[in-house]
Amino acid sequence: MPTLTRPSPAKINLTLRVAGVRSDGFHELESLVTLIDLADTIHVTPQERGRWRLESTDDALPPDSSNLALRAARLLVEHVGENHGLDIRLDKRIPLGAGLGGGSSNAATTLMLLNELWGVGLTVSQLAHLGTRLGSDVPLFFHGPLALIRGRGEHVEACPQRLDAWVVLLLPELHCSTPDVYAAWDAMQAEAGGATGSGVDGRLRRVLDDLSRPDELMTRLYNDLEEPAFRVQPELRRLAAGATRLAGGPVRVTGSGAAMFRLFSDASAARVFAEAANAELGVRSEICRTQQPASGPY
Ligand code: C5P
Repeated sequence: MPTLTRPSPAKINLTLRVAGVRSDGFHELESLVTLIDLADTIHVTPQERGRWRLESTDDALPPDSSNLALRAARLLVEHVGENHGLDIRLDKRIPLGAGLGGGSSNAATTLMLLNELWGVGLTVSQLAHLGTRLGSDVPLFFHGPLALIRGRGEHVEACPQRLDAWVVLLLPELHCSTPDVYAAWDAMQAEAGGATGSGVDGRLRRVLDDLSRPDELMTRLYNDLEEPAFRVQPELRRLAAGATRLAGGPVRVTGSGAAMFRLFSDASAARVFAEAANAELGVRSEICRTQQPASGPY
């Protein structure tokens, strides 16, 4: 039986603006996202009808029906109305629950793989639409490597600009629950007298204009979920302050945390920072690169 394999990359949110709460309880976002070359690998192999198996190299990821790769496969089965059998193997490298979109990426990649394996013939935008049912971040993985997401995450626009940078990821062993971080954002808004979100301003435009200079770009990046994430995990605030001191400039939280990142144009500066964060803050670090249009799987 043929096995199809595909990388399933992580993302970082370069900017993230929360613009308010929608009537469905989700939050209205505007976020510039880049895919990075830290990636899981997904293998799918057809099995006899009705035989399903999911294997993961990460023991912390339960191979049950909560797994987003499995949910993606079941969703496609429902869509085609045929009881296929399947083996899914996840070689995990993206840390779980870190704001790096690992689960959502796995869902998107599984949909792409099975669309091919089963000859379903859905277009990328049909797959992305289906993916919205699995999570707000799923659609962005059908675009990229640089994309602007809006709404709950369902409106994705690929950006023609390029961002070519080294990325140092800081991966503290802290978990920020996404619903808790959004709830902390709600509480902050209530304290501020009910203003809904940060106003539209020129921040995003200035970021898009400055992508060719990754080091300078850091001072322009923002994430409205950062302060709420610090409230949910006060230890993260302390680590972010320590990392900022070591870097001599800002680090940013990605998504709802708890991973943080800093961009560099220079590989050796990235290495020095990654090693210092590891040695002095006791935080695991990973060095990777932003994905480029030619090198990405999309
Ligand atoms: O869609 P996803 O499963 O990733 O969302 C997880 C949780 O994050 C939601 O249940 C919701 O509490 C919150 N969320 C939100 N607004 C978004 C995305 C997520 O409030 N745009």
